Amino acid sequence: MTTGTIPLPGLIEEAQTTEENFLRQIFVRDQMAEWSKQPIVMARADGVYYWDVTGKRYLDAISGIYVVSVGHNNRRIIEAIKKQLDVLTFSPPMHGTNPQAVQLANLLAELAPGDLSTVKFQCGGAEVVEAAIKLARQYHKLTGSPGKYKIISRYQSWHGSTLGALSASGLKSRKTVNEPMAPGFIHVFPPTCYRCPFGKTYPDCGITCATIVEDVIAMEDPSTVAAILVEPIGHTGGVIDPPEEYLPILREICDRQNILLIFDEIITGIGRTGRMFAAETFGVTPDVLLTAKGLSGGYAPLSAMICRRPIALAFWGPIATNPGFVEGHTFEGNPISCAAGLAVLREILERDLLANAREQGARLRGGFEALKRKYPFIGDVRGKGLFQAIEFVADRSTKARLPDPMAFGIQVGRRALAHGLLCRFDPHWIAFGPPLVVTAEEVDSMVAILDRSLGEIWDQIGRAASSASSQS
Ligand SMILES: Cc1ncc(COP(=O)(O)O)c(C=O)c1O
Repeated sequence: MTTGTIPLPGLIEEAQTTEENFLRQIFVRDQMAEWSKQPIVMARADGVYYWDVTGKRYLDAISGIYVVSVGHNNRRIIEAIKKQLDVLTFSPPMHGTNPQAVQLANLLAELAPGDLSTVKFQCGGAEVVEAAIKLARQYHKLTGSPGKYKIISRYQSWHGSTLGALSASGLKSRKTVNEPMAPGFIHVFPPTCYRCPFGKTYPDCGITCATIVEDVIAMEDPSTVAAILVEPIGHTGGVIDPPEEYLPILREICDRQNILLIFDEIITGIGRTGRMFAAETFGVTPDVLLTAKGLSGGYAPLSAMICRRPIALAFWGPIATNPGFVEGHTFEGNPISCAAGLAVLREILERDLLANAREQGARLRGGFEALKRKYPFIGDVRGKGLFQAIEFVADRSTKARLPDPMAFGIQVGRRALAHGLLCRFDPHWIAFGPPLVVTAEEVDSMVAILDRSLGEIWDQIGRAASSASSQS
C-alpha cells in the first residue's frame, strides 16, 4: 500500500470572499440574490464594533443577533476557552458529562428564579425549544396524564428553525414554505397592545389576550394540553412587550389546568431586560426556562433548558419504570462551550452588567423617545432594558401603517448599515439590542446614526408616500 498526502484544494484569498461567484457557494440567512448585491462578510470584531473584509467599521447595536452579551474580543472569555482547550475539548455524551457542564448547571440553578434548577445543555436555541416540548410531553406521561401533548404558543412568535420549534413558531413568512407543520401545535394571538387583536384598549381590556387562552384550552380539552410556550417579550412582530398582568395570568391558568409554562428566554435571558432573566423582570417563574444566545456571548454554541425541581424529580424514578429524560445531541454540554458560559456569567456578575443594562437601557429609551418627538412617523417605542424597538406608522392618530411596498424600516436599516450601524430591521419596525457592556457614548452614537438614517429615508421616500396614503 502506498501512503502519501492527499492534495488540498487551493483556498480562495480572503480578499475574494465578497465576489459573487464565491458567494454562490454558500447559503446565508438573507435572500441570497439580494444579499450578494451588497454582501457583508465580517472579518473581525472588538467591543461593540465589527469590521468587514473591506475594512468598513460597524457599530453593533444588535449584539450580532442578541448574542454578544459581554462584547466582542472579551479577553476573559477568550482566556477561559484557551485554558479549556488544553484540558478537555469533548467528553463522551453517552457516558456522562464534564466538570464545566456540572459547574455551569449549578451556577444557572443559583441564578435562575425560584426552584428552576435542573439543566439540559444544547448548542442552539431551537434545540432547547425541542427539548422543552419533549420534556413537557414526557413529564405528563410520567405523572399520570399521558393524553397531554398539545403545545400552545403565539402567532408572530419565533422559536427556531427545527420542525418542532418551527411548528410552535407563529411567523407565516418562515413557515408556509415548509408546511405542513407537525401536529399538536395551537396558536393564540400575542399581547400586541399597540394593535390589540381584540380591538380593545389597555387597561380596560380585561387582558383578553391572556384570559382567552383559558377558553382556547377549554375548546381543545385540557386533558390534551401539555404546555404554553411564550417569549416573555416577543421579538418577531416588533418587540411585543406584554402588559404587566399578562404573564401572571398565564401562570395562574397553567397552575389551574396542570399545564407547564415554558418561557423562551433565548433573547430575553442573560441580562437583556436588566435582570438575569425576564422572568424576574415580570415577577413570574415558569416551569421551564430556555436560554441561549447571550449565555456564551457568541464565543461557542451553547443553550440551556432549566426546569423546576418537581419536574426534574419526575425523571428520577427507578430504571424499571422510568427511562430518564429521553433527549440528547452529540455536542450537548460541550466543555469548551460551558467554559465560555461560566466565564460570561462571571463577567456579567463581577462587572454588574445587569446594572449597566438597566442604565444604558434607560438611555436608549430616552434616545428613542426623542426620535419619536422629532419624527411623526414613529408611532410607538417599546421594550425593556437593552431590548427596545420603534414602530413606524403613516398616521399616529389612526396607527395606519406606511404602505408595505415602501418597506420603510428596511430602507432605514439598509441606510443605517451604509452609515456603519447594525440593527434589526423589518418593514414596520426597528430594534436595538446592544451588548450589555455598551457605554453611554456608544448608545448615543447608535441613536445618532439611526436618527440620520431615518431623516434621510423620510426625506427621500417617506414624506410623499405618507401624504399620498393620508389623501387616499
Ligand atoms: C426567541 C427565540 N427563540 C428561539 C430561537 C432559535 O434559536 P437558534 O437560532 O439558536 O436555534 C431564536 C432565534 O433567533 C429566538 O429569537
